[in-house]
Formats: sequence, structure tokens, C-alpha cells
Amino acid sequence: MERLDKIISSQRADGRKEVQKLIKSGAVLVNGKICKKPDAKVDPDKDEIVVDGQALNYSKYIYIMMNKPAGVVSATEDRQFKTVIDIIPEDMKRKGLFPVGRLDRDTEGLLLITDDGDFAHSITSPKKHVDKKYVAKLDGEITEDTVKAFSDGIEFSDGTKCRSAVLECDKNDKKTGIVTICEGKYHQVKKMFLCCGLKVVHLQRISIGGLYLDSNLHIGECKLLTDLDKKSVFIGNIH
Ligand code: URA
Repeated sequence: MERLDKIISSQRADGRKEVQKLIKSGAVLVNGKICKKPDAKVDPDKDEIVVDGQALNYSKYIYIMMNKPAGVVSATEDRQFKTVIDIIPEDMKRKGLFPVGRLDRDTEGLLLITDDGDFAHSITSPKKHVDKKYVAKLDGEITEDTVKAFSDGIEFSDGTKCRSAVLECDKNDKKTGIVTICEGKYHQVKKMFLCCGLKVVHLQRISIGGLYLDSNLHIGECKLLTDLDKKSVFIGNIH
């Protein structure tokens, strides 16, 4: 059992004070009855809580799939640019959300956003080797040498070594490749291609582990992950 104001506040972006006002105004029902006491003890898993006419679907953590647009940064705050947190729809917003890993500002595609630190860590920890798949459009053609260099493991000019990566060339367009990496080094895909003399002109992430970007999700849109989606992140990784 927890305080009503604490439970409601944990599911929203606004603070405890605002929630207390809301409760006192009579906008909250518990099991069908108006409850004006912020400190009323309720069980979020059993009691039915309705806020402003909408059922509170309580969940300890939230897991969001975003089709990240170019132009927004993968951060919680930024002085100059909009962040991925800024563009989450209101009904999915709550305190403590952060992106799981980073995509460059100009990179599009699959980004997970959560408030569950353990889940994020199990994806981003270098020890876990979760695969990330990207579609890269390039300023030149992929050759067999490029594919081999990726497979052998690219070494950056500063001596940083990348693990073996899989590069598949689009059959109809040699300037497009699908790259699978199991690390998350800064600008990794762009730098790997640069080492092979190719510039990435467009980059989109399409999967994390066995979880693929939902093709119905337009650029900039978000959806909640199902339990199965969450599990699929850890399925089918190469290493
Ligand atoms: N590699 C890059 O170079 N950029 C990204 O955004 C992700 C992977």
C-alpha cells in the first residue's frame, strides 16, 4: 500500500504538489468513489484509480519505442536542441525517463526510452553484446573489401579496435548497407565506414537485439513495448 499522491505522481511528468491539488479538487476516483485525500493508502495493483476520467494503468516502469527523427538529441536535456524526451507524447511522459544509449542527432530510427535503469544497463553494458542493426546510405559503393574489413574488425586511427561486424550490401544499391554491430562506440558506424573511405550520408537504426523498429511507427512517433517486445531485445544476438 502506498500514498495515493505518490502513486499518481510516479506515473506522470508533473510533481507531487500538482497531483495533490488534483486529488483535492475531486478529480480522482478510487474504486469508483471520489477520494480527496492525497495520503489515502491504496494498492496500485489492486485498487482502480481514475484520474480526470482516465483509468490509471499503473506500471512500475515504462518502456517506449520511438522512431527517432533527425534533429533531436538523445539526451534528457539540451540547451540548444529539442531532446527525445521533449517529443514523447504527454500520455507516455513521466519523471525519470531517459534514452537507452544514444543515436547521433542526425540518426533516425529505433530508440528505446525508459525509467528502468536495470533494463537499460542490460542493453548498453559493453559486456552484454546486444546487436544493433543500422541501414547506412553512403557516398560511394560497398566492395568485398569493405565487407571483409568490417568482419575482420575495424581499427580506428586512435588505435580503438571494433569487434567483428556484419555488413550486408543491398543487392539493388551498392551505396546502401545493413550493418550489425554489438557495441556502442561514439559515432561507431560512421567512423567504421570512414576507415574504409566511405561517408555515411543517412543512418537509421532498425533493430536492437531481436526487437525491430515497428514499420507502422512514423518518424517521431512512439509506442509502448509489450512484454514480448522487451524479451526480444535479448534474443538472437550473435556474440
Ligand atoms: N553509429 C553512428 O555513427 N551513429 C549513430 O547514431 C549510431 C551508431
